[in-house]
This record gives sequence, C-alpha cells and structure tokens, in this order.
Amino acid sequence: MARRSSQYICQACGAVSPKWAGRCEACGTWNSLVEESGGGPLAAPGLKPGKGRVVELQPLAGTAEDAPRTPSGMGELDRVTGGGFVRGSAILIGGDPGIGKSTLLIQAAAAVASTGGKVVYVSGEEAIGQIRLRAERLALGDAAVSLAAETRIEDILATVSSGPPPDVLIIDSIQTMWTDAVDSTPGTVTQIRATAQSLIRFAKKSGTTVILVGHVTKDGQIAGPRVVEHMVDAVLYFEGDGAHRFRILRSVKNRFGATDEIGVFEMSGRGLIEVPNPSALFLGDRDAASPGAAVFAGMEGTRPLLVEMQALVAPSPLGTPRRAVVGWDSNRLSMVLAVLDAHCGLKLSGHDIYLNVAGGMRIIEPAADLAAAAALVSSLAQNPLPSDAVFFGEVSLSGAVRAVAHASARLREAQKLGFARAVAPAGNTAEAGDAPPIPIEPVDSLAGLVARIASDARVRRDE
Ligand code: TYD
Ligand code: MG
Repeated sequence: MARRSSQYICQACGAVSPKWAGRCEACGTWNSLVEESGGGPLAAPGLKPGKGRVVELQPLAGTAEDAPRTPSGMGELDRVTGGGFVRGSAILIGGDPGIGKSTLLIQAAAAVASTGGKVVYVSGEEAIGQIRLRAERLALGDAAVSLAAETRIEDILATVSSGPPPDVLIIDSIQTMWTDAVDSTPGTVTQIRATAQSLIRFAKKSGTTVILVGHVTKDGQIAGPRVVEHMVDAVLYFEGDGAHRFRILRSVKNRFGATDEIGVFEMSGRGLIEVPNPSALFLGDRDAASPGAAVFAGMEGTRPLLVEMQALVAPSPLGTPRRAVVGWDSNRLSMVLAVLDAHCGLKLSGHDIYLNVAGGMRIIEPAADLAAAAALVSSLAQNPLPSDAVFFGEVSLSGAVRAVAHASARLREAQKLGFARAVAPAGNTAEAGDAPPIPIEPVDSLAGLVARIASDARVRRDE
C-alpha cells in the first residue's frame, strides 16, 4: 500500500522539507513550515508517469507573430501590460489587501465588456450582492460582465469551458481557490500552485487571458503568490498607501512587454480614475519658496515623472542624530551624506536629517542622488532652490556627478510642466543636443552643486 506522504512546505519561499523545523533552512523565515500532503497530481492528467513523448524540435529562425491582445480600454492599465491583455497569457496582480485590486479589475472587466469582449469575474471573497453593490457605486451596474462567487477550481473550469471561452477570466483571489486534486487548505503553497497551474493550463489551451489576484501582506506572511510569480507571464503590483489617494500599478515581470512601466490612478469615491499626467499630480501643491525642496526629473520605465524631494536638516540635541527617509533608499541617503562630508566639507554628523518624497511616491532610481543632495544642501543653508529648476544625476563615491539615461525625456517633461532649466550632469549635455527643450546647467561634481547653491544665496542676499 502506498504510504500517504506528507511534507513541510515553507509558506514564505516554497521550499520543501521532509521534516518540520522551527526555521526554514532555505530562506531563514521562522515558523513558516506547514504540513501539506505531497503527491504528484500536479503533472498533467492522463499522462503516465515516466513515459516521455518525442517532441518535434523547431529552428530558432522562423516567423513570429505579434501576440494578439485584448485592449482593456483603460489607458493606464494598457500601458503597464504593454498594449492590452495578451490572449492565452496569465497575469498576476499582487498588492496589499484593500489597496483596490478588485476595484481596478471590475472597472477593467466593464471596459473590456463595453467593447464587446466576454469577461467572467469569479470572486472567492465576496458574494454576488457585494460585487453588484460596488459596480453600482462605480456606475458600472449595467456592464455585460458575467459573475460567479465560487472557489472550487474544477467548477470554475467546467463553467468557463462549457461555452465559447471568455476573452478574460478574472480570479479574485488565488488564495481563496482550491482543488480536489491536492489535500491542503486553501491559501497554502500547494493549493495555490495547483490551482494556478490548472488556470494557466486553461489559459494556454483556450486563448483566454487569465488574471489572478494575489494578496501580499507587508510582512510577507501570506507569501503564496510569490510561488506563482514564476509560473505566470506577467506580474503587476498595485501599490499605494492609505494616507494618499493615488495608486501605482507597476509591472515587475512581463514576457510580452517592458517592465518598470507604471500606470497611475487616483482612488476616488467613484472608483479609480486614470491619471494621464502624474507629474502635475505629484507637484500639485508645491511650496517652491521654502528651503529644502528640490524637483527631481525622474523616469519610471519609459515615462518621465517629476516629483518633489523634501529635506529637513536641523541641529540635533541627540548623541546619535536621527536619519529618517520616506520614499527613498536610506542607504543611498547615507551615501550622499558621506560624499557631502568627505568631498564638500559639509559636517552633517551633528544634524537630524529627514528626507521625504512628496505625495507618497517611492523612488528607486540612482538618478535621484543629485536632487536629494540639492534638497539637503538647500535645507542646511536655509536657502530655497530656484523654483524653475529640476535636478537629476547620479552621484558617485568620488563626488563626481555621473550622466544618467533618458536625459531628453526628462527635459521634455520638465518643459511641459513649466520649468525653465535643469541642473544635470555635464555628461548629459551632449545627449540633449544643441537645442534642448530647456537649457542644462551642467554640474560635474557634488562640490560644484554646493558652490552653486551657496553663490545663489549670496546673489539673493545682495539683491
Ligand atoms: P478593493 O478593490 O476592495 O481592494 P482589494 O481588492 O485590493 O482588497 O478596494 C477597497 C478600498 O477601496 C476600500 O477601502 C474602499 C476603497 N474604495 C474607494 O475609495 N472608492 C471606491 O469607489 C471603491 C469601490 C473603493
Ligand atoms: Mg478584493
């Protein structure tokens, strides 16, 4: 008799272990091993184990067609997916609970349906009545979207396979789905993997785009969807925080388009509104006259985005001064401070330093170094930066300011929003050409930037 095998699976990283342990050996997370029954039903049904079939190998050279897509009808969503949902692909949309994933998807479902597409929305979390209520609030009550409140994957697949396959199938959320084929509770790695696999198989076979919703908690508790990331064609993250109304949809993996692309939405009382010009939103209520604020001309994927970086530098009463960063990497702040200290002679070790990216935006680009440095120096000198200037450039440990990519796109965006000059790496002047949209005031070292801000202050005082 075959012994019923069970194994312990780390709910954080998916590592399998034959025995229980308090700490996962693979990723080091404590208390993440959960007993799940093993077994091989993950292989395609109907295939005898061990017997392989000869597959016909194809040459690399050959014609490839553009993947056919179903546009969602929402510009910001289409920008992130690379032009619409690719038929037969699987997309994972992750995000914290309550961020607005269901709202986004019901709006996208209604938009696809309004262009004649067939959309099935399966919710494992809400009853039909709740979904209808939300749709009414969004004024989408009469959209031709088919709904189901169901969690058993066999029933869902039987339903969508019974007629012509839908163009888009939305599963909200993958954590609530379960299959008979494996014997573990919904939400465990084994269940998520098995249900996602059957849905992805259905997508490939039928040409339906399958969209999976996955909750990711901040502390990574229910990290099940991480396991799915490897299996799907595209992974989008929906981010934002409770204190701000706007939400950012970010593509972190896309087999059919660019990653790092973002779509910006604003959560309103009537659902998500697309924000086609996010720079205007982020700079909305800027107080240009106060010291410590620098406008950074950034890039998110192929999209230029202007955001304000705010710094506060104040003498500290504490033995160990405070360093607090919101929206930027604290390691990069330490690095910029070290360079200001070593190469520009600014002694900041006795100062509390706070750095904030306005509007709740999160910046990962090294090109923000120069703007951060400008904000810090401006706050220290109690001297506002020129209100018509944007900043970008990467600072190296030697204190040099290095050229960054996409200078012309950054300059064009700055011009569009009424800025008149850019303080930028000298190395970027060539790329910007003879007639840049706005003139570059080149800096080649951080010391040069500090001198410029100091002399600006002198000019202003003398006036
Ligand atoms: P929801 O889409 O249910 O989040 P998720 O599926 O990611 O868990 O959105 C929940 C939040 O959005 C909820 O706190 C209320 C807010 N919301 C609005 O502010 N306006 C709206 O029109 C809707 C539908 C929701
Ligand atoms: Mg939801």
